[in-house]
Amino acid sequence: MAVLDIVRLGHPALRTPAREVASEEFGSPALERLIDDLVETMRAAGCGGLSAPQVGAGSQVFVYEVPPSEAPPATPPRSSAPPAEAVPLTIVVNPVLHGKPGRMVHDWEGCSSVPDLLGLVPRHPEVRLRGLDREGQPVDRVVSALESRIVQHEHDHLNGIVFLDRMRDLKSLTYSSEWSSFVERGEQGERTAVV
Ligand code: NI
Repeated sequence: MAVLDIVRLGHPALRTPAREVASEEFGSPALERLIDDLVETMRAAGCGGLSAPQVGAGSQVFVYEVPPSEAPPATPPRSSAPPAEAVPLTIVVNPVLHGKPGRMVHDWEGCSSVPDLLGLVPRHPEVRLRGLDREGQPVDRVVSALESRIVQHEHDHLNGIVFLDRMRDLKSLTYSSEWSSFVERGEQGERTAVV
């Protein structure tokens, strides 16, 4: 396993749709290494998710994980929102998402490929996630809350989309050092997800 460089906005990999992983690639050294490296790089960067294009690989793979100790607290501290849930390590290949129709939820997001910036991003509160795990076995489940946000963010990376493209209003875009006072001015959003 190796910690890879995470590419940043401007690198063409972030704007190039990833290709589907073929069935014969499951179990191959190349795919196994990519998955292991994604997990190690995500953990080293301290982010909640990472997609293959972010390490310059063009296949439809992402990983995500929120350890219990790192689940972001509700912000501001006085908020009545419950603490964010931990999310176990999950590896998804060739994902397909279906958002439930209904109200989108705005909350704060950042991205290790767009370092130091946060913005309010609308996401489906619940999505059905289908795809394959690292062994090529089907994944089919409904995810909600923070996990739903992470999955939509990572799925976007596989289509050349970054969170800035999903913001309805760039006025909420803020540097993390300015973010605390920004939120305390009563803007919406309950917690951050840097993914
Ligand atoms: Ni990202």
